[in-house]
Amino acid sequence: MDALTTNSAETDPNRGWFTPPERETDSHQRTADGGESEIPSRSPAAIRPVGRAAARKQRAQQQADQQEQAQERAQEQADHRADQPPDRQTPPPAAPISAPEPAPARIADPAPAAAPSPSTFEAAPASAASPDALLIRRTMAEIGPVADRTTGYFYALLFIRHPELRELFPAAMDAQRDRILKALLTAAEHIDNTETLVEYLTNLGRGHRKYGTQPEHYPAVGEALIGALSRYAAAVWDPLTEAAWVRAYTVISQVMIDAAAADERHAPPWWQAEIVSHEPRTQDIAVVTVRPDQPYPFLAGQYTSLETPWWPRVWRHYSFASAPRSDGLLSFHVKAVPAGWVSNALVHRARPGDVIRLGPPAGSMVVDHTTDSGLLCVGGGTGIAPIKALVEDVVEHGRKRSVEVFYGARHDHDLYDLDTMLRMQEEHSWLSVRPVVADTPSSSLSGPLPDIVRQYGPWEAYDAYLSGPPGMIRSSMDALVGGGMPSHRIRHDALEELVAAGD
Ligand SMILES: Cc1cc2nc3c(=O)[nH]c(=O)nc-3n(C[C@H](O)[C@H](O)[C@H](O)COP(=O)(O)OP(=O)(O)OC[C@H]3O[C@@H](n4cnc5c(N)ncnc54)[C@H](O)[C@@H]3O)c2cc1C
Ligand code: HEM
Repeated sequence: MDALTTNSAETDPNRGWFTPPERETDSHQRTADGGESEIPSRSPAAIRPVGRAAARKQRAQQQADQQEQAQERAQEQADHRADQPPDRQTPPPAAPISAPEPAPARIADPAPAAAPSPSTFEAAPASAASPDALLIRRTMAEIGPVADRTTGYFYALLFIRHPELRELFPAAMDAQRDRILKALLTAAEHIDNTETLVEYLTNLGRGHRKYGTQPEHYPAVGEALIGALSRYAAAVWDPLTEAAWVRAYTVISQVMIDAAAADERHAPPWWQAEIVSHEPRTQDIAVVTVRPDQPYPFLAGQYTSLETPWWPRVWRHYSFASAPRSDGLLSFHVKAVPAGWVSNALVHRARPGDVIRLGPPAGSMVVDHTTDSGLLCVGGGTGIAPIKALVEDVVEHGRKRSVEVFYGARHDHDLYDLDTMLRMQEEHSWLSVRPVVADTPSSSLSGPLPDIVRQYGPWEAYDAYLSGPPGMIRSSMDALVGGGMPSHRIRHDALEELVAAGD
């Protein structure tokens, strides 16, 4: 793994490229024309972005405050609107931040704004943590209770100071809006854990190409981050803390910038893909098959990000429902969630001939072909899609490995792809498929999916692959680890998303 590079930063290790050398301690600040004005400086550590006049910054700050109040008002209206299905909603307003509060959802949907919590990254124990990591954690503890306000202020600062960046973001910034800040906070908190961090940030940087993010945008985001943190963690903010954040942000952004630059050499920022078939399976689930405009390399078990023409710049993740095919087509199983923007568009509106955009593939829930261990696959709802792809992958590799699939849903009729899975079971002696329904008497096994999986253990000779709603993934992990399976043998999708969502 490459070492972290900070070669874009200034040589002074206390400073990055977005924070200037001087800190003003009195109330006299220089105006744009070099004069002095009586603008009160922010206490205890004001941000002094490079080349930015104090007067303009003060104006931006006031505007940010006003915008924050306007946002709170808009929020109340948006909460009301969010209860209606997309079709009945008024079009998303163009105002910067004007959307519903986050609500609990499937993996991609962040939990309600809360203290960013470490989940995937192993934080170094406090005794081993670097001084920067300790300062960063102290800020995080302070930000925790006001994370939502910090997020609002972060975006307000970003868009007021850099209005040109607003058009990179969706018109309505909804439940997902806190993902950037959560990712930044989580990454900064785990700044000591180089290997995991670099892997995560590399994918993130590559994925940012589809948003149109350029290297020169990063200082703007850094300024907004420091601005928001210094305001909402004022009680613990001091020059040392600011320097620690500047160093962390410089490293984080450099990894992302480098990853995007490396990716540019061999992949487009996004793929156009035409829908070639749209097959409704239940009232709210459809199988959507697309033909990318150029070869799309991916591995079975991975997922992509997808944008529809009806909600520009609104990207959501969907797992590939098949291993790579010789005809190059890609399939997704999509479930329309109540009031869901993209899923409803894909299930109820999309038709053959429509063109969507795809981001790069992501995810590490892929088959390890270097071992002969069995595969324990647990798929809940549309989580069966990547599990089916994994089974196809095992078939294609031609090695007979025991594969045990548990396919969970609430009711029998939600097991929309059971026929396909049972057909595969008939064709392959090493494959066993067990349907499990949650709470209705039926011909399938019934009860909570993790409990049933545990009953069929022990699973010592298996690697586990889990896909579905976050609650199912968490409880399945608990059940397996509780039953003696080491956590490194458990793979699940959306690792990065869970981190970003703090879930
Ligand atoms: C790695 C990964 C792979 C995924 N693969 C698939 C897949 O193969 N198929 C698939 O259908 N989805 C998949 N998802 C979920 C998908 O990315 C979207 O989150 C989902 O389609 C909802 O998006 P939306 O724009 O329609 O809803 P949004 O507009 O994001 O949400 C609207 C409202 O619905 C709520 N909501 C969101 N999801 C749910 C839910 N599941 N149940 C109830 N309420 C919800 C939100 O909290 C919000 O209140 C995957 C997610 C991840 C992270
Ligand atoms: C170190 C810096 C950054 C981090 C850690 C970060 C992190 C994230 C994360 C986690 C997401 C959620 C979706 C995804 O996984 O792609 C996201 C979305 C996004 N980011 Fe970044 N980002 C950073 C810098 C930037 C910069 C500099 C820009 C350019 C202005 C930018 C623009 C966007 C946009 C447009 C989205 C989509 C927003 C949405 O879907 O609502 N990001 N970012």
